[in-house]
Amino acid sequence: MEQILAEQSLQSCTDNTRSLLNQITQDILQKGYSIQTNALPNELADMLHFHITQMPNEKFNEAGIGRELNQQVNEKVRNDEIAWINGESPAGASWLNWTTDIQTFLNRRLFLGLFSFESHFAVYEKGHFYKRHLDAFKGDTNRVLSLVTYLNKDWQPGDGGELVIYRDENDTQGIKVEPKFGTVVIFLSEEFEHEVLPANTQRLSIAGWFRVNNSIANNIDPPR
Ligand code: OGA
Ligand code: MN
Repeated sequence: MEQILAEQSLQSCTDNTRSLLNQITQDILQKGYSIQTNALPNELADMLHFHITQMPNEKFNEAGIGRELNQQVNEKVRNDEIAWINGESPAGASWLNWTTDIQTFLNRRLFLGLFSFESHFAVYEKGHFYKRHLDAFKGDTNRVLSLVTYLNKDWQPGDGGELVIYRDENDTQGIKVEPKFGTVVIFLSEEFEHEVLPANTQRLSIAGWFRVNNSIANNIDPPR
C-alpha cells in the first residue's frame, strides 16, 4: 500500500528516476550515502549545463562558511563561487521539480520529514578546493540530506576536483567520486565529512540540502 502511494505521488517522474530513487533509498538505509553515475536525466543535465555556462559572472558570489548572519569568506577552507538556484530560469525550475520528486519519494519511503530544499550552482576554477567539512552539525541545523551533482562534460582523470567522502572521523582515505557529468551523490548531512580536492581545470557542480522545518517566530523555515 505504501509503495502504491509513493508511486502515485510522483506525477512527473520517469521510470529511470523511479528506479534511481529505489537504489538511493536502499543505499541510504544500508550505508547512509549513495553514489550514482549517469543519474541526472539527460535533458535536465543539458539544460543545467547550458544555464551555468551562460550565466553572467556577476550572478556568482564567493562562497561563505557558516550561518548567513555570521558568514565569513575563508579562502583557506573553500574558494568556489556560488549562485543560489531560485527557479526563475527554466533550467532552475526543472531542477527544482526533479529534486521535489526526490524529496517526496524519500519522505514516503524513509519518513524523513524533509520540508524544503535549497541549492546552488558552484564553479571551482583551476586550483580551487573545499577542505574536509560537515554540511550540518548535530543539533545545530536542519540540513538532513546533502545532494551534489556534476556538470563536467568530458571529465578526465587528472582534471582533479574529486569529491572525497569519509566514512567516519578516523577515515583518512575516504571514497573518491569523480565529478563526471550526470553523477549524483546523496548523503546524510550530519554523518559524513567530505571534501573537494583541488580542481586542475574548471569544475561545475550543484550542491543542495533537504531540510526539516525549523520555523522561528513568524519566519517560516528561514534559510541558514
Ligand atoms: C558543498 C560541497 C561538494 C562538491 O558545497 O558543501 O561539499 O562536490 N560540495 O561540489
Ligand atoms: Mn559540503
